[in-house]
Amino acid sequence: MNFPTVKKVTTHVLAEMKLRGEKISMLTAYDYSMAKILDHAGIDVILVGDSASNVMAGYDTTIPITLDEMIYHGASVVRAVKRALVVVDLPFGTYQGNSKEALNSAIRIMKETGASAVKLEGGEEIKESIQRILSAGIPVMGHLGLTPQSIHKFGTYVVRAREEKEAQKLMNDAKLLDELGCFAVVLEKIPATLAEKVTKSVRMPVIGIGAGRGVDGQVLVLHDMLGLTTEFSPRFLRRYHNLFEEIKKAVVNYIHDVKTLDFPNEKEQY
Ligand code: KIV
Repeated sequence: MNFPTVKKVTTHVLAEMKLRGEKISMLTAYDYSMAKILDHAGIDVILVGDSASNVMAGYDTTIPITLDEMIYHGASVVRAVKRALVVVDLPFGTYQGNSKEALNSAIRIMKETGASAVKLEGGEEIKESIQRILSAGIPVMGHLGLTPQSIHKFGTYVVRAREEKEAQKLMNDAKLLDELGCFAVVLEKIPATLAEKVTKSVRMPVIGIGAGRGVDGQVLVLHDMLGLTTEFSPRFLRRYHNLFEEIKKAVVNYIHDVKTLDFPNEKEQY
């Protein structure tokens, strides 16, 4: 089956996909080579997520990654991509302080990476930052539910918004982001029934991760779905490969060939 029909995915294309009920595919990428594969495969959206902090840099949380590091990853991805919409995460500490700082951070991402949009975590608390970024003509994707930049407030990675009060706040925040003009929102690790209710209540496309199938699209962290990471196995994660083992096998074979003088052979030298 071959789904990609448009030459270039834009925020407008995503809105049309929601209207006609076509699901949106989104994955993370942080470097040129992987982004090129995703784009060739026909992915709709590539998120240069601050999960780079975990899977690329080896930190426990997304908190340490800097704006300069996100710009490095973002620019590498953009250089590889012709069709997908590229969205770059604003990292922790670059937009919560005040709206001017938020706008400056978003402008740096847009100018220095060539990406098409930014993503921020939160609702009402960061309303002014979102408004200011949007007023500069920069498309904003929201992120609600389990927002990893707030992990020290949550204290745990369990499912969010199971309780009525938190579910109501999430619904209000989603409607606010929609009214402000965000072009999409990510809902992470919340009950499927709530995610479906939000999806039906807002115009913008809703992309889920651990939010069930009643949403407009799905996102996963590339390294998790490819099985490059092994230590993390939440229920919502479908692994499409076991690349950790595959790559390890190839490296073990290479070491063997070097040690036994099998590599390089006569055809592999000048
Ligand atoms: O940084 C990231 O990878 C994300 C996804 C989990 C949506 O925000």
